[in-house]
Amino acid sequence: MNRPETPYSETPSPETASPEPVVIDCDPGIDDAVALLLAFASPELDVTGITTVAGNVGIGQVVDNALRLCDLIGTDPRLPVARGHAGPLARAVRIPDEPVHGEGGLGGVTLPPSARTPHPEHAVAWLAERLRARPAGGLTLIATAPLTNIAALLHTHPDAAPAIKEIVVMGGAAFAPGNVTPSAEFNFFADPEAARYVTEAGVPLRIVGLDVTRAALTTRADIDRLLADGAPVTGAAGRMLDHLATRYERRHGIDACAVHDALAVAAAVRPDLIEWTDAWVTVECGGEFSRGKLIADVHGRTGRPHNARVATGVDADAFRAFLITRLLHTYGAPAHP
Ligand code: RIB
Ligand code: CA
Repeated sequence: MNRPETPYSETPSPETASPEPVVIDCDPGIDDAVALLLAFASPELDVTGITTVAGNVGIGQVVDNALRLCDLIGTDPRLPVARGHAGPLARAVRIPDEPVHGEGGLGGVTLPPSARTPHPEHAVAWLAERLRARPAGGLTLIATAPLTNIAALLHTHPDAAPAIKEIVVMGGAAFAPGNVTPSAEFNFFADPEAARYVTEAGVPLRIVGLDVTRAALTTRADIDRLLADGAPVTGAAGRMLDHLATRYERRHGIDACAVHDALAVAAAVRPDLIEWTDAWVTVECGGEFSRGKLIADVHGRTGRPHNARVATGVDADAFRAFLITRLLHTYGAPAHP
């Protein structure tokens, strides 16, 4: 990793006081993996921990993938990676039958086994303790998976909530079709009760949904640049994204892919790449065809005060350039003399 060494610290030291302390809650998954790569390639962020939850694959595979990705990235070996919930709190867990993310959850890319071990505490307990050690608004959460851990945190440890600066969530489809049902996006469909609890908890929220992630596709040319670079990280990222783009082409006729979770990380670093609309939001939990639907009341029809900023537009080319440039700059092969 070519990133200037910023000493790993739970509490940023003065020289690193500017980076935003964040915890990423994820379910790697290919786009979670690229989101992690981007987060660690962003000096604006100080990733102080990773929490994991079942989603794209079962929790055991998610944790293993997260540990292997930390090795690939070359993160500080002390970086906590904590195991979270193995499924929703109010429903049976449903791991997708058709593996969108391929064998092992990383597009069939096999990373070397990691010698790292998960943090001994459960993700929710660890995160609650980290938050209690922070000042008000001292930590940003980036959530790129079903919101089970985050809901459990807010429900079980409400005293930890004031330390949350904001939650940047990849999830939902406010004004666009879903990707699991016509109305629901996967993360909100997987655990709608958790999504509803988080949206109505009163914590500052930014929602990056399918409305924008599908408008900011990573193209075949981008993927080929990563594959051509030949370094371990860029090569792995290219192969993972190649899996998604190949599947996307088969299903939609477009040789490209939506790297949903990476856009949530980009939103935390460069919110200017996105157009935001304030709304009152909640998530529908019932209904044969409405389970997991993100409801966004922009015009005050419910009379409820706005509780989230919803992404409604994106500068797609700027995001693509941001993502690929950072990956190549941070992890790419040294420029040939
Ligand atoms: O709908 C896209 C989301 O579901 C992404 O977070 C992807 O990783 C899956 O978890
Ligand atoms: Ca995810």
